[in-house]
Amino acid sequence: MTTLEKIGAAPSRLGATALYDWDHLVQEDRVHRLIYTDPAIFEAEMTHVFGGTWTYLAHESEIPNENDFITRRLGLRPLIIVRDMNGTVRALYNRCTHRGTTLCRWDKGNTRSFQCPYHGWNFLNTGKLRGVPWPEGYAADLRDAKYNLAQVPRVESYRGFIFATLNMDALPLIEHLGPIAPVIDEWLDRNPGGKVVVCEANRFKYKGNWKLAYDNSCDGYHVAYSHRSLLETENRMAGDNAKGMAYYRDSPDTLAMYMRYTGNGNHYKDKRPNLEKRPGGLWALEAAQPGMESYEADFIRRYGRDRAFALLDLAGSEPVNINVFPNFSLLGNHIQVFEPISVGETNAIWYGTMVVDETGELGDAVTDINALRMRTQEAFPNFGEVDDVANFEQVQRGLMAVEDEWVYMHRGLGIPGRVKTLADGTITAPATDEAFMREHVKEWKRLMKSRLNLAIRREP
Ligand code: FES
Ligand SMILES: [Fe+2]
Repeated sequence: MTTLEKIGAAPSRLGATALYDWDHLVQEDRVHRLIYTDPAIFEAEMTHVFGGTWTYLAHESEIPNENDFITRRLGLRPLIIVRDMNGTVRALYNRCTHRGTTLCRWDKGNTRSFQCPYHGWNFLNTGKLRGVPWPEGYAADLRDAKYNLAQVPRVESYRGFIFATLNMDALPLIEHLGPIAPVIDEWLDRNPGGKVVVCEANRFKYKGNWKLAYDNSCDGYHVAYSHRSLLETENRMAGDNAKGMAYYRDSPDTLAMYMRYTGNGNHYKDKRPNLEKRPGGLWALEAAQPGMESYEADFIRRYGRDRAFALLDLAGSEPVNINVFPNFSLLGNHIQVFEPISVGETNAIWYGTMVVDETGELGDAVTDINALRMRTQEAFPNFGEVDDVANFEQVQRGLMAVEDEWVYMHRGLGIPGRVKTLADGTITAPATDEAFMREHVKEWKRLMKSRLNLAIRREP
C-alpha cells in the first residue's frame, strides 16, 4: 500500500473557479493570444495539462540498470526518474522533504540513495527517508510517511517510452495512446529487435510558449516556406525535388501523405506513402552528409547491393511525425521533447537514437550504421529546427500586440469532403491542413476546464 495525497485543490491562480471563459479563448477556427502569453494560464497548464494527462518523461534505455537515475521535469516539477534497487521505475520529486531544496543536482548517475546537500537528510531510491544527521534533535517520528519523498503516482511505459500523470482518473497509458500506439510500433519495428537506444541530444531553448512547438509538430503547411534554405541546400546537387522534404514544394495536398488525429491530443503525419518501398528507398531520400558516399561504397562491397541498401535504410530518417500531447514527438529517428520553462520560454530537446543488435543480425555493420545515423540525425536539428524556433520566437513577439487578439488555424475547415472522420473516430486530412491543431486545442481546453482527480504519493 502506498500513501496518496489528493492535490485536487492545489493552490493556483486558476483556483476552483474558471480564470477565463475557455470557450471564448478556444473557438472552432481560432485561439486567443492569451493562451500563449498569459502567465496565469501557463501556471494553470502546469497542473491541468502537465499533471492532468500522460506526459512523456524519459526512455527506459536512459536508465537500463538498477539504481540508474536521470533528472527531468513534469511541467515545472523537478523529478528524479530512477530504476530503484528492486527494478521499479519511479518518478520521485527532486525536492527534499525537509526544507524543499533540490535533492539531486546531477543530470544522471547510479546510486541506491540520495543525500541532500543542505542538511544531509538521506533518502533511499525508493523515496523512503533513510536517516537524518543527529536524529536525537527530533521529537517527531521521522518514520512518518510524510517525510518520504513525493512521487508521481502513475508511471507507465509503452515499449520503452516512460510517461507519467498525477491524474488518478486517467485511462491506462495504452488506452490513452489508442490508435497512435500501432504507429509507434511501426516506428520501432523497422529497427532490429523493435528497439532503439537513446543517446545524447541536441538541446534548443527558444523564447516562446511551449504550445508553439506542439502546434508545429504536424504542420505540413510551413515546410516549403520556412525550410526553403534547407530544401535548396539538400537538393542543390540532387535531381528535382529528390531529397529530404522537397516533396512539399509543388502540390503537397495531392500526394499520398496525410495527417491523422487519433484522439487525446495525439496525431501523426505520415509521409511514407510518398516513397517507393524498396531497399534503399529511405537512404535515397537522405541529403548528402559527410562520409556518406564512402560508407555506401564500402557497404555495397561488403554486403552486396540489396543487403547494403537495406542496412543503409536503418540510417535513413523515417518520414513520419508522431506526436503525443503535450510534449513528445518522434520525428525521423529522433525523440523530440518540449519542456516548458515559463510562459515565454521552452526547451526543445532532440534525443538521437541508435539501433541495437541483440541477436547479431547486423553483424559488424552495427557500429557503422550508428555512426551514419548520427550524421543523418545532425542534419535536421541544425538546419531545420533553427527555422522552426525562429518562427516560434517571432510568433511570441507578434502576440505581444495585445489588440490584435486571434490566431487562426482554420485551414481545411468547412471545405466539403476535405477533413474526414473515419469509422474508428480518427480524423484524417491532407498534409497541409490544420485539423490536427483544431483537435489538440480542444483537448487542451477540456483539460483546462476539468476538475481533475490529481494526487501525489509517498512510500508508506
Ligand atoms: S533541505 Fe534537505 S536536508 Fe535540509
Ligand atoms: Fe518545421
